[in-house]
Amino acid sequence: GTANIGVVGMAVMGSNLARNLASREGNTVAIFNRSPERTRKLMAEHPEAGFVASESIDDFVASLAKPRTAIIMVQAGAGTDAVISELAERFEPGDIIVDGGNANFHDTIRREKDISAKGIHFVGTGISGGEEGALNGPSIMPGGTAEAYKTLGPILASIAAVAEGEPCVTHIGTDGAGHFVKMVHNGIEYADMQLIAEAYDLLRTITKRSPAELAEVFTAWNSGDLESYLIEITAEVLKQVDAKTGKPFVDIVLDQAGAKGTGAWTVQNALDLGTPVGGIAEAVFARSVSSHPEQRSAVQATITSRPTVVEVDVDTFADDIRAALYASKVVAYAQGFDEIIAGAKQYGWDIDKGAVAKIWRAGCIIRAQFLNRIVEAYQNNPDITSLLEDPYFASAVASGEEAWRRVVSTAALSGVPVPGFGSALSYYDSLASKRLPAALVQGQRDFFGAHTYKRVDEEGVFHTLWSGDRSEIATEPSTH
Ligand code: 6PG
Repeated sequence: GTANIGVVGMAVMGSNLARNLASREGNTVAIFNRSPERTRKLMAEHPEAGFVASESIDDFVASLAKPRTAIIMVQAGAGTDAVISELAERFEPGDIIVDGGNANFHDTIRREKDISAKGIHFVGTGISGGEEGALNGPSIMPGGTAEAYKTLGPILASIAAVAEGEPCVTHIGTDGAGHFVKMVHNGIEYADMQLIAEAYDLLRTITKRSPAELAEVFTAWNSGDLESYLIEITAEVLKQVDAKTGKPFVDIVLDQAGAKGTGAWTVQNALDLGTPVGGIAEAVFARSVSSHPEQRSAVQATITSRPTVVEVDVDTFADDIRAALYASKVVAYAQGFDEIIAGAKQYGWDIDKGAVAKIWRAGCIIRAQFLNRIVEAYQNNPDITSLLEDPYFASAVASGEEAWRRVVSTAALSGVPVPGFGSALSYYDSLASKRLPAALVQGQRDFFGAHTYKRVDEEGVFHTLWSGDRSEIATEPSTH
């Protein structure tokens, strides 16, 4: 074979990635799609790519130079398993199978185990940036072995986005580490989007600004601390006018948000790890709430009046929201990085947090200058227990704190839902509180289930004889 890299799956992500690969010096790209029509169409539309096209999997495998490297870009799940086994049957030890879809990292761990038993490398790889990123430069999060990365790394670096001169790709860790980090990226993406949506809702409802006016607010916010792709596209969406009705586009879209599952995975995994990611969870649940129109209309039918919105000074309030958005965003990213740290520990990955923040600076959906602050935080001290401990973030949150509290209380008084802002602030206040009511919960647990507690002033484990004379005994930790 002559192709140094192959791509299986010519839907939009796969064909864009193949074109991206073909456009880089030194690459000859083999392509294959289950139904050949797609391949033929791509060949006709992009002769400049010099693709080596195959209409059978045997021909595709034969078109690859050894060691063979193929990137699978098909729907996550059963489709991916089918292609993997077709390739694995034909590949030889030392060859590399890459899964570039949004796979669940548990699947990736399982697949890597199966495939590596045959001496074939399996590299689960997160790829972020949507269609545009796949074509012009995504952020790439590969797992798998260091050995596979030696071959694959330079190829991926050639197509990745570039941030401050560095390609947005790094070897995240072994087996499922890449897909794990991509999952957390998506969880953070959900949280960031929800926070921006809440900022919009508050401004729209309380300051009564039109979507077109708010587009200008978001455009102005897209410089400085909040500068990011998501803020930029928010302004674009708010600017859009529906051609059919002449109304703002945002007003003609059904307000029920979809989800394909990666946000939910982030939260499910956080629950397993015992990592509080309330900001991400609220963002996932906010989409779920929106998508229960039957409950929404049933509750609305019981309500005769809604709170009058609090009167605010428009400019001051907008500044407050901007500060609240930034503080809440810091919390969401801190929670996401906590999950990465906990996952790395649980699954035995050596993940460089600063390197993750670096490759998210360009190409991916959460790309932003802001990620540089996270890079710096981990450079200053790789062992911080929370990003909120880093001096820059601590002072950023502290300087926005009053505004944050005003926004959350104004939202509550005005009846504007702010699950993202509210949960972020409560999380911050939980960490900031000297004493938490967890002490009372421990008392309740000990009362009804003899679950035991520790004391603030003495080593050991204790139980109070609640149904006896209420004296305290030293005991063993409860196991039930
Ligand atoms: C990306 C995106 C991409 C996709 C997500 C979110 O990084 O390029 O995250 O992977 O948009 O899967 O999709 P849902 O909002 O439909 O869950």
